[in-house]
Amino acid sequence: MQRAKIISTGSYVPSKRLTNGDLERMVDTSDKWIMERTGIKERRIVAEGENTSDLAYEASKIALLRAGISADSLDLIIVATVTGDMPIPATACFLQSRLGADNAAAFDVNAACSGFLFGLSAANAYIKSGMYRRVLLVGAEALSRFTDWEDRNTCVLFGDGAGAVIVEASDGQSGVMSVDIHSDGNYWELLNMPGGGSKYPPSAPSEEAAANRLYYIKMKGNETFKIAVRTLEKLVLDALEKNGLKASDIALLVPHQANLRIISATASRLGIGMDRVMVNLDRCGNTSAASIPIALDEAASGGRIKDNDYVLLEAFGGGLTWASAVIRW
Ligand code: UT7
Repeated sequence: MQRAKIISTGSYVPSKRLTNGDLERMVDTSDKWIMERTGIKERRIVAEGENTSDLAYEASKIALLRAGISADSLDLIIVATVTGDMPIPATACFLQSRLGADNAAAFDVNAACSGFLFGLSAANAYIKSGMYRRVLLVGAEALSRFTDWEDRNTCVLFGDGAGAVIVEASDGQSGVMSVDIHSDGNYWELLNMPGGGSKYPPSAPSEEAAANRLYYIKMKGNETFKIAVRTLEKLVLDALEKNGLKASDIALLVPHQANLRIISATASRLGIGMDRVMVNLDRCGNTSAASIPIALDEAASGGRIKDNDYVLLEAFGGGLTWASAVIRW
């Protein structure tokens, strides 16, 4: 049976750094609070005129170059994002045009922070069904454009960036072993951005939009935190069981980078030491759908993953959504 194999990775983060010190001058917060509660030290912010598709393009160029393939050989482009350039068209279409991927279909996936793994699930299914052989999957976000810079509860958390992978049909032992995706829309109010859709379109009274700051990301952090920890603990144990693996078989855990306390709780529940966990949120913050592919690229290009290693990916985010994947590299 054919497997979907990640044959290359790439990532890109904007050059502008926003440190906790910078945030101290913007809202009532402190480096100490942010470090203790989240583990984030700094995050990257898009430049004026730089959009989500630009980040996706830079990450994709690297992944294509490393795979040694041209963009016109792609069958499909999936971009996971909640901060696309425009509501129409899909950011994947901008990326397709920019890359010259003339033979690829292109669409976006919205599953918030779990978006990359939802995209991987789709890529995996297309490849296993035989419908497509080569997929470019990207997680890309310009969250800073939708961050309420007056709300200390959220503005210290987010960052911008993109990560890309090329997923290809392969006959070997390595590749995606499992991808599991889950949603529970009953909890939509915990994490959302109300404005911009059919509920609060541009024609809605502008006083309402201004009063509620509808066009910014809102999160009930503490409630989300508790559900995340509980859900992820079960998710990762289920992923191991499904593949007949023990925690000691996992060479590297690559978690969504939302909060160091959530990451350590998951690792500790698995019995995996932090030396086998990829962490970059100190430098990147929470980049939603981009967080796993950026971390995966840093791990792979930094030599932390070797051929045939088992890698466990997990994510939790707005929707609510949550997902895991086990990959034999
Ligand atoms: O990525 C998608 C999914 N997202 C997540 O999984 C994130 C989940 N949530 C979190 O990471 C954490 O809940 C936060 C980092 C957002 C918040 O940490 P917390 O330990 O849950 O803090 P809290 O919301 O319970 O707030 C504790 C206190 C409050 O003050 P009082 O009411 O105790 O006086 C907040 O007002 O900390 C205050 N606070 C801050 N203080 C300084 C909230 N934000 C800040 C801030 N600086 N930036």
